[in-house]
Amino acid sequence: MWLAMAVRVPVLVAVAWPYASGSRHLGHIAGAYLPADIYARYQRLAGNDVLMVSGSDVHGTPITVRADAEGVTPAEIVDRYHAEFCRQWETLGISWDLYTTTGTANHAAVTQDMFLVQLENGFIDKRMSEQYYDPVGQRFLPDRYIEGTCPHCGFEAARGDQCEHCSTTLDATDLIEPRSKISGAAPELRPTEHFYFRYSDFTERLEAWLKTRAGWRPHVLNFSFGWTAEGLQDRAITRDLDWGVELPVDDLGEGKRIYVWYDAVIGYLSASKEWASRNGDADAWKRWWHNDDARHLYFVGKDNIPFHALFWPAQLMAYGGLHLPDNVPANQYVTFSGAKMASGRGVGLTIDEGLALFEPDALRFALAAALPEHADTEVSITEIARRINDELVATWGNLVHRVFSMAHSKLGGRVPHATDRLPSDTELLDAVDDALSQGADCIERVELRAGLRAAMEAAARVNAYLNSTEPWKLASTDPERAETVLVTALEAVAGVRTGLAPYLPFSTAALDDVFGPVKSWERPAVPPGTAVRKPSPLFAKVDLDALGLADRGDPQG
Ligand code: MF3
Ligand code: ZN
Repeated sequence: MWLAMAVRVPVLVAVAWPYASGSRHLGHIAGAYLPADIYARYQRLAGNDVLMVSGSDVHGTPITVRADAEGVTPAEIVDRYHAEFCRQWETLGISWDLYTTTGTANHAAVTQDMFLVQLENGFIDKRMSEQYYDPVGQRFLPDRYIEGTCPHCGFEAARGDQCEHCSTTLDATDLIEPRSKISGAAPELRPTEHFYFRYSDFTERLEAWLKTRAGWRPHVLNFSFGWTAEGLQDRAITRDLDWGVELPVDDLGEGKRIYVWYDAVIGYLSASKEWASRNGDADAWKRWWHNDDARHLYFVGKDNIPFHALFWPAQLMAYGGLHLPDNVPANQYVTFSGAKMASGRGVGLTIDEGLALFEPDALRFALAAALPEHADTEVSITEIARRINDELVATWGNLVHRVFSMAHSKLGGRVPHATDRLPSDTELLDAVDDALSQGADCIERVELRAGLRAAMEAAARVNAYLNSTEPWKLASTDPERAETVLVTALEAVAGVRTGLAPYLPFSTAALDDVFGPVKSWERPAVPPGTAVRKPSPLFAKVDLDALGLADRGDPQG
């Protein structure tokens, strides 16, 4: 073979850790989990060594606020939502190598090691500061225990850590008219001692490093350079909470824990180590982390950009010797009938609601076609249904159905030798091959919508080929030509299936009994003698009227 012996590149597919504090929404799927899964599945087919990790983020005030509201323990909240997420990944076909939590002993140990090394290296120090205190509830009010008006956009229910309306990362003391989420009282400032990470030490290094990040999405780079231009601020990495990773030093006394955002990003490393240990080779993680040739991609929503493009790289630099992010292809938001589809504001469909309406592959298809890669993207139930019916079913589902039906009835269910191919036949196969290399190029650049479009255009091309060759007529007028056309169409279908495999894992596997599993990013041979069975539909058409949904979710009604 002229193909070079491929070098297997270790690819880390790092995906944002969802807070185990409530059901996640379709916006989260489109924002991080689906694109990460498409990318990972493609990289495996391209022959690289993929390590795709994440887990439930079980710490911080998102969890404790919820537990307080329900009068249950944080552990109860975490167990409930972690179990829900695991079930949903299974149903949606998110192909983790490891999906764990930040509540493990391993994660605490890795976090504490990082803390101690950075402390030793002089990048962490202790400071007194003034934090909000609830005089009625008699406790400090970290992060989400404070609400107030956002100083940037005026949103009145902004939280002490971030404004959900404009995504600005906030300090509780930035809020206008702050109030305690526990008692509603106006909080007062009281002195308290915390550890700080000296992010300001890294402004120049981060800026120089960001300048070398060719190919990053412009919105991610612009946003990050905005931070470095202003200069990073040191940030407290401990909180007055009793829920979180324990400190490895006892300088601060009782009631203090490591801040959730400092520990959560460390999850990428701790999960890699956990994966290695579970696989019986405790050092295997080093191939991804102690290796300049590895590639690390972080799939996150845009509200997570500062944590992955600035703070986590700074934490890695402060520790030393670990691979830095190669890309942070952060997505913008999916909006749903004009409102952000994220859980915090209770709008949009939850994952379970989406799965009650649509088959997993159909949902994946519709979301992949609308990924908010460069701009906020609006989605509605009727738009999802239209895409499923008019694109997925009409172009791909029907193509497989008609080719299999004809192969079954006209070829007697066995693939014959293709004889005397005409230029139009080879042109079709070349077009499918071109679509595969174009798709590879798009996915490598994390332009996943475009990658899907390339595969769907190839499917449309096969449909056009059938319409012009009309094998159903040839069967009686020129049976030998009919055979060649159908074999060619089957080969083309097998190639298109490869291009769709990262997007549609379930319907791809549904054709394993005919074509075998998709093993690599290429158009496989369809050997003579292959049995082609009677087809069953790959996807069901969505009937919105039957679901009683004809009007729901569409801004136009
Ligand atoms: N739990 C955070 C969120 O849902 C994301 C954490 S990503 C991590 O926004 F990398 F920090 F873990
Ligand atoms: Zn705001």
